[in-house]
Formats: sequence, structure tokens, C-alpha cells
Amino acid sequence: LAKVEVSMSSIPLAKNVIIKWRGKPVFIRHRTEDEIKEARSVDIKTLRDPQTDEDRVKRPEWLVMLGVCTHLGCVPIGESGDYGGWFCPCHGSHYDISGRARKGPAPLNLEIPPYDFDDPDDKIVV
Ligand code: FES
Repeated sequence: LAKVEVSMSSIPLAKNVIIKWRGKPVFIRHRTEDEIKEARSVDIKTLRDPQTDEDRVKRPEWLVMLGVCTHLGCVPIGESGDYGGWFCPCHGSHYDISGRARKGPAPLNLEIPPYDFDDPDDKIVV
């Protein structure tokens, strides 16, 4: 199956990009130190789909996930919502800066696709 490559240096700190992978949007965010701290400060016992930030990323500064709301499949909007992450306008689900479901009808965190880093070539390969 086709892989998609994104150059890491093309994504500035604190920016999102959206790529297409197998017909679905994939969100990649280059996270700041503060965002990483915020994502890791959450008590996972308070989450409806308890998952640590460490379990959701391979490198703290790179968040890679499917841009498909786990409620009914709309595409959430970046840099919005009550938790500093994504907001799904279809029925009002809020996701945090780790892509975890925090408020609204979404039952699960945004899904993490398989991906890898290709350092010599400065690439994230999804
Ligand atoms: Fe996202 Fe319903 S599809 S909140």
C-alpha cells in the first residue's frame, strides 16, 4: 500500500499539517514544549478513553493521528476547542493536544495510524 512522506523541516513549531493517507486525513502537529507538558500533566483517570500521551506518540514533539472524529467521522478543526487541541463542529467534540477525547459525544481518542521516522531524509512516513 502507498506510503505518504512528509518533510519534518517543512512543519514549523506549533503548526499543524494535514496530509491524505488511504483517503483519510492525517493530522501532524509539531508540538511545543508547553504543549507536551500540558499533554503529560493530565490525570488519565479523568479521561473517557484513558491513554497517556507517552503511549500516543513516538517522539514528544510530533503528534501524528487520523483526522477522523471518533463520534461519526467528521474532520475536526485544529487549534480550537476547550482543550487546546481540536474541535469537531459536527456535534461538538473537543480533543486535547494529545488528540484525546475530552468533551462532547466522541467516545474515543483520535486514532494513531502506523508511522515511522526516517531521520537521514528528514521524513515522517505514514
Ligand atoms: Fe465529531 Fe459528531 S462527528 S462530534
